[in-house]
Amino acid sequence: MKSIKLHAPATTANVGPGYDIFAMAHHEPYDEITISLTNSKDIKIEIYGDSQNIPVNVTDNTAGLAILELFKRKNIQQGVLFQLYKNMPSGGGLGTTGASAAAAIVGLNKLLDLSLSDNEMVDIARYGEVASGGSPHADNVAAAILGGFVLVKNYHPIDVVKLDLPEFHIVLAAIRKSQRSTRGFITYEIGQEKLKEQMARCASVIHAIHTKDVKEFGRAISVDYIAEPVRSAVIPEYTEVKLKVLEAGAHGFNISGGGSSVFCVCDANNQNQIAEIMHQGFQNNPNFVKVIQTKTSNQGVKIVG
Ligand code: HSE
Repeated sequence: MKSIKLHAPATTANVGPGYDIFAMAHHEPYDEITISLTNSKDIKIEIYGDSQNIPVNVTDNTAGLAILELFKRKNIQQGVLFQLYKNMPSGGGLGTTGASAAAAIVGLNKLLDLSLSDNEMVDIARYGEVASGGSPHADNVAAAILGGFVLVKNYHPIDVVKLDLPEFHIVLAAIRKSQRSTRGFITYEIGQEKLKEQMARCASVIHAIHTKDVKEFGRAISVDYIAEPVRSAVIPEYTEVKLKVLEAGAHGFNISGGGSSVFCVCDANNQNQIAEIMHQGFQNNPNFVKVIQTKTSNQGVKIVG
């Protein structure tokens, strides 16, 4: 049986103001995936470790949907066994669904020798996201495939660019969603002043990456008038923890992707302290899973065997 092993990283989509257009990859955590070509005609999904009620039915699973999209576009009929070894807490905005879809497409691109471009892989993998958020957003899958910081330059057709990130220290608080998705509650009617500020912050994020300025990066990612108001409203401790973390010297703080996880950017020398503040702040939230200290990573899905 021809097979391939991959690691697929956690990602933080939106990165503050860049709703559906920014995302970045983390060094840890990551899921481990094995994809095998089989003689059957079926796509089979198996989940090991903390399976967290992730559906294994192909049309309900992000990797399954991405594989179906690939096979439809390329007119492929092939049996596939997709085995996911779950390390990451799912359902919380750490891009774990996107990671599976991304690994599926990167792995099959290699196994079937398809020579897909990065944009094609992102465009196909994003259809896996319909299983989780209901929309084919490209940000998480792009960061999972390419690593680093990704910017969706165009949606029609998909065109993404990767910017290498300096090594920023990150603390994630993994918090599961209390409901399936908050996307439906997000309003785009934010008014002219906030819209200008949101665009200015997006520009500042990109400038900060080019100038490797972690302070500017942190300031810019701490503002978002589109998703943060909706998603922070379902995390009772959010405002207080954000304030404490910024007072303790973190550069920036916001919701990670679709939430309810949050992320903060800090320095190596205050990472432990900030992780402790986040742990204390969220530990009584029934959906809190754990605090993870990590770094940004310029490596996307990695073929390891
Ligand atoms: N951009 C997506 C959203 C990411 O905000 O819903 C989901 O992780």
